[in-house]
Amino acid sequence: MNAKRYLDSIGSKYKRVFIIYSSTGATEPVFTEKTLATLGGRMDVVARTAFYALHDVKPCRPDTLFIAHLEGQPSPPRQVYIDCNSSAKMPIGERDMGRLLRTLLESQESRSTFTGLIDRLRRKTAVYTLHESGEDIERALKHPSLPAAFILGDQKGFPRIYEDYLLRYTAPISIGPRPYLASHVAAFVNEWLDSSLRLLSSE
Ligand SMILES: C[S@@+](CC[C@H](N)C(=O)[O-])C[C@H]1O[C@@H](n2cnc3c(N)ncnc32)[C@H](O)[C@@H]1O
Repeated sequence: MNAKRYLDSIGSKYKRVFIIYSSTGATEPVFTEKTLATLGGRMDVVARTAFYALHDVKPCRPDTLFIAHLEGQPSPPRQVYIDCNSSAKMPIGERDMGRLLRTLLESQESRSTFTGLIDRLRRKTAVYTLHESGEDIERALKHPSLPAAFILGDQKGFPRIYEDYLLRYTAPISIGPRPYLASHVAAFVNEWLDSSLRLLSSE
């Protein structure tokens, strides 16, 4: 499936979208599952975040799309799209997810700029940026409405130029003043949406 088809399915097939901005993630399949953190340019962070965005106790969330926006060497920028149909056997851990990312870099060819990608998302859905100084998630998503897209930074956060853009054109939300791992934040957002939507449906 190409990028347009993934993005066109937001709202119908996909109710939750997670995007990680990776300033160092490799843009060609030059790594293996054993070299995610080194040759992969911290693809371990991307793989972990993909895993927590798409998984919980059950194997995979069919209504969720994960997008890795990669700005590392050798040919930035590039995106990888992952959903529950990306592999016959979905990954059961970080290394497995790293292997899938590598395979998808071999088969997908999406090269939007970061702001181009976010602008396309904004035309389809509400877009939130996870940021320590954003509005408390308890207030911002008290009555969540889906679809919704959530943008996460990598181990370095966001470069200043994109941070300014995201704070201006998306809704910044926070899970507290402490910085957490992007993977932890993805898991927390999923859990927050699950419990808020459960409460809403029982009212
Ligand atoms: C490891 S953190 C980045 C830390 C980085 N040193 C910085 O200063 O931005 C990775 C990403 O997770 C998200 N994140 C981490 N803690 C958060 C929090 N308390 N609230 C909202 N988002 C958070 C942000 O998107 C952040 O860019």
